[in-house]
Amino acid sequence: MTRFEPAGPLRGTLAPPPDKSISHRAALFAAMSEEPVTLRNFLQADDTVATLDAIRSLGAGVQTSGPDVLVRGVGLRTAQAATGGMLDVRNAGTLLRLLPGWLAGQPGGWWTLTGDESIMRRPVDRVAEPLRRMGAQIEARDGRLPPLTIHGADLTGAEHELPIASAQVKSCLLIAGMLAEGETIVREPAPSRDHTERILRRARVPFDHEAGALRIRQVDELELDELTVPGDASSAAFAVAAAACVERSRIVVEDVGLNWTRTAFLRIATRMGAVVLGDLEEPPAAGAGAPPPDEPVGELDVAAAPLEATSVDAAEVPLAIDELPLVALMGCFAEGQTVVRGAAELRYKESDRITTVVGGLRGLGAQIEALEDGFAVHGTGGLEGGTLDAGGDHRMAMLGAVAGLASRRGVEVSGMEAAAVSYPAFESDLGRLLAR
Ligand code: S3P
Repeated sequence: MTRFEPAGPLRGTLAPPPDKSISHRAALFAAMSEEPVTLRNFLQADDTVATLDAIRSLGAGVQTSGPDVLVRGVGLRTAQAATGGMLDVRNAGTLLRLLPGWLAGQPGGWWTLTGDESIMRRPVDRVAEPLRRMGAQIEARDGRLPPLTIHGADLTGAEHELPIASAQVKSCLLIAGMLAEGETIVREPAPSRDHTERILRRARVPFDHEAGALRIRQVDELELDELTVPGDASSAAFAVAAAACVERSRIVVEDVGLNWTRTAFLRIATRMGAVVLGDLEEPPAAGAGAPPPDEPVGELDVAAAPLEATSVDAAEVPLAIDELPLVALMGCFAEGQTVVRGAAELRYKESDRITTVVGGLRGLGAQIEALEDGFAVHGTGGLEGGTLDAGGDHRMAMLGAVAGLASRRGVEVSGMEAAAVSYPAFESDLGRLLAR
């Protein structure tokens, strides 16, 4: 059990850890390159180390020096150089969903992806089914769960209409599209994070993006030499929420990614009354095409203020998906009823985050109800405190810690070590913002 006492204002500057989503992609794209690629500011956390280990098993050379990683890739079509076998993705859902896109296009190779207890409950039919339509042979437990066995094949381009906006599924199919004969089209019902598209642009892979449809064709090789990973907006969100809820707080977050597809939580927090200043990227203009190759990075200035309830609907959900638990927490401190809908996808994260957020916050005294596709919180201006079990979910552990600081009696978090999945320095970073 780790105890988080009610604390005075947060003050000072935070440099969040490197972005997890971008680090996973950077490692995979570097492994698919023929020339060595330097990954600057790569996240060294349980999840992304699982990706480095996976690409090593597939034949890539990986050399870490300080914050950087040098990857000597095997090229787009030579992952079969490694013999087929088990790949352990541990807790990494992004690795579980992106890697099959590459493996499916390696004729003659086969691999089985497995992982920890939470991974074994996460659906993979969302990637297996479209990859089968491109010619891969894939088996999953009960047709939808890991372990997932992929037999690589000569893929053929296909047209995919995603039923839900998912950056993981989109990215998997874009990777497979680079290996498939002809054209692959991916349509998403709403925009989701676009880091893969930006890396494709950096790697000079031609693709079109028009009216919600991404079109990609077979390529021979990637042209990458270096990728720089910005600070993780989702990890920074815990300190932002703490600063928003703990009276008289004022913090600066530096070197954080401000990509529009990742900053909906900051827009929601602003709507609720928190003071969040920063050069957030603007949404793309209609018909703007593919995003620019570089990730926008900047600084945020965050201050506490009285909070008001808000509503979050389906269009905003994919752009704030990992921060929705924090919207629930802030809802406890706001005046009025905060409602999140159109977020049934929360049920398929590291835990069923509708059940764990509602159960966890209710245990701390919150008035919160689960909805089929979200939750409704009745703000009472504060939170009592108590105990919260992270249940192996890194974001639940960090939610419990922030709740403790803002609560009246403090919070004991059981399973705080789960934070190491995305943010190993979380407790010390938070402690520094509280030190006088
Ligand atoms: C991620 C996309 C999101 C997010 C996950 C990371 C990614 O999942 O919840 O933590 O790196 O692409 P979905 O794309 O499945 O919504």
